[in-house]
Amino acid sequence: MSQTILIETNPDLKKIYSINLNTFVGTDVIHRNNADDAIELLRILPQVGLVITQSKVGAEETAIKIHRFIKSENLATALIVLGESKTISDEVLCLKDPVSWEILIKQAAQHLGVNMQDATAKVRPDYLPVGVHYFYDISNTPCDIYIRIKKAPNDYQFVKRIHSKDVFDKSDIQKYEDQGLKEFYVPKDYIQYFTTFVTNNLIKKLEREDLTMEDRILTTANAHEIVRESIQAIGFDDASVELSDASINSMVKSVKNSPQVAPLLKFLFSNKVSFAYQHCHLLALMCHYVLSKQSWYKPEHLETLSFVAFFSDVTLKSNLQMQISSMRDLNESNLTDEEKRQVMNHAKDAVALMTNHPDANDYIKTVLIQSHGKIDGIGIEENPGEDLHPLSKVFIVADAFVKILLNPALPSSKKDILPLLSVRFTNASYQKIIKALEQKFE
Ligand SMILES: [Fe+2]
Repeated sequence: MSQTILIETNPDLKKIYSINLNTFVGTDVIHRNNADDAIELLRILPQVGLVITQSKVGAEETAIKIHRFIKSENLATALIVLGESKTISDEVLCLKDPVSWEILIKQAAQHLGVNMQDATAKVRPDYLPVGVHYFYDISNTPCDIYIRIKKAPNDYQFVKRIHSKDVFDKSDIQKYEDQGLKEFYVPKDYIQYFTTFVTNNLIKKLEREDLTMEDRILTTANAHEIVRESIQAIGFDDASVELSDASINSMVKSVKNSPQVAPLLKFLFSNKVSFAYQHCHLLALMCHYVLSKQSWYKPEHLETLSFVAFFSDVTLKSNLQMQISSMRDLNESNLTDEEKRQVMNHAKDAVALMTNHPDANDYIKTVLIQSHGKIDGIGIEENPGEDLHPLSKVFIVADAFVKILLNPALPSSKKDILPLLSVRFTNASYQKIIKALEQKFE
């Protein structure tokens, strides 16, 4: 589903526009309050198809600010302005006040490449966007693939770029990316067929024994991204269950044979692996380090913790949310109230999702709900107690280690990170876990 950012301060109009955009244009509407908030989101989600904004919010020249940003970043995002904005009216569609929702959805449909045949029937786009990364681990596609190009400022056309018989590799796809392409488009009737094809190919690749360490990590990272997107869009289905199983097995394999942390970090950064997977992979690795020093260690403990690492932040939508490691971080962040609520509840929400995953056993659910030190999975505990499950304690310390490691503003050497953990986690069993990490690094 395409995404549209809407900035509308009148609550009644906001509701009418959102419902109709969603119903008739089939676009997911995200609300923002001003230009800065919208720009912040566009930095994270450059694939947003359309921004609809009031020309001004209070004294702010909202439309002009957003237009400048879209232009300077060369985004394919279209813009519709509600009300007059003389400075940009030659380049951007400005709808005169009062704007009727019928006119707005008609324009939105045109900007997003949707055929509006009948405003009373539910309209779906003819082509659906899929991230370029869906093409990283396949060498052909089961259907023709298109790109969206701008014909005129407010008019888009879909052009066939990959034929179903074409053979390509990752470097071909990267050439498109280098030119700034973020998404290909799949004809809507083929979307299910296409995603099943990609999932099956990824599973096959992840199950291969002869993958190099580098290829294994990059393929698992890509699978992680695809699982996250799929779960956030539609929840668990059979394909994401199978793909996540293959990914977790693959991650466990690479963690057991992992290079040292420094070269691993260099590899993750230089290959532009997503923050979500950097965090997930390093977290599983730290858990492995700690577990390998415990007398009670059994291989299934690493499997449990890797499973939890894979899904622990799956409901979070931005890197900013995933970087939060304390209530103080959360309160001082620029996140909206809704985004803060998502962070507060993400452990609990992840467990709720697990009811649809057949392999999520009670151990996994226990560690997942306690992953931020709270028994009920709500909030973040600064100094968790002894009452938690032993595996949860390992997970929490490992998570805190990795969050510091990946934060450019905090120390990145293990010698400097471990004392920070010692100050935060004062209870005896946590101190033991920190000691185990220390020994591992000696
Ligand atoms: Fe988390």
